[in-house]
Amino acid sequence: MVKRRPFIAGNWKMNKVTGEALAFAREFKALAPELQGADIAICAPFTCLAALAEIFRDTPVAVGAQNMFYERSGAYTGEISPDMIVDAGCSAVIIGHSERREILGETDETVRRKTRLALETGLRPIVCVGETLAVREAGRAAPHVRAQVEKALAGLDPAAMSRVTVAYEPIWAIGTGRVATAADAQEICAVVRGTIAGFAGAAAGETYILYGGSVKADNIAELLGTGDIDGALVGGASLKAAEFAELIRRAAGAA
Ligand code: 13P
Repeated sequence: MVKRRPFIAGNWKMNKVTGEALAFAREFKALAPELQGADIAICAPFTCLAALAEIFRDTPVAVGAQNMFYERSGAYTGEISPDMIVDAGCSAVIIGHSERREILGETDETVRRKTRLALETGLRPIVCVGETLAVREAGRAAPHVRAQVEKALAGLDPAAMSRVTVAYEPIWAIGTGRVATAADAQEICAVVRGTIAGFAGAAAGETYILYGGSVKADNIAELLGTGDIDGALVGGASLKAAEFAELIRRAAGAA
């Protein structure tokens, strides 16, 4: 497997009003020249996407949304279409985060539709998969994640797989400080890649696979030292510019 530049994506979740986002962006932008060696994205709330995209224009920092709707326009009150996300200056979108699956009724079918539409619209989908603690303790993490990956991605043109990112985020490791061991994370990320290879062949080698769940500056290098983890989807540790920058520096150094 070719080891590529790590891809580190921040997921701010429902944090930061625009003023706070801009304060982060100014501080982070000043640090960005030191952050060569990794691809970087910040996935922020809808309300500050345009302002963030403007400040990060002409920098290597990509801006992404955390969700999108599965139609391009129409009578869907309150929803945001992928075209609107592109219009705000974004190039990426998180799809199927476990918080949306668990709290907001996201299903494998909506994840599948959103992923296709994101690709069609030119957005880089970051498709999230991962098991609950109960599923892990029942010894069913691998088949659970395999099924989620198949439902989200099977049938896509293999040529699109290089534009797809899959984030493996075990639900029990999110926001808990309980990070999966690098070996456990690698095991499931290898399942993700093997599953993609099952329907897309060699193109699976082009897909970025991230780990997410309590990733911090001091555990990123170990995670990236495994064979199938190409980067991280980072929640809490992406909220402070200096902390996120340090995590990226260590990721670039580990690659
Ligand atoms: P934490 O890094 O806060 O555990 O969140 C992980 C996550 O859900 C990123 O999408």
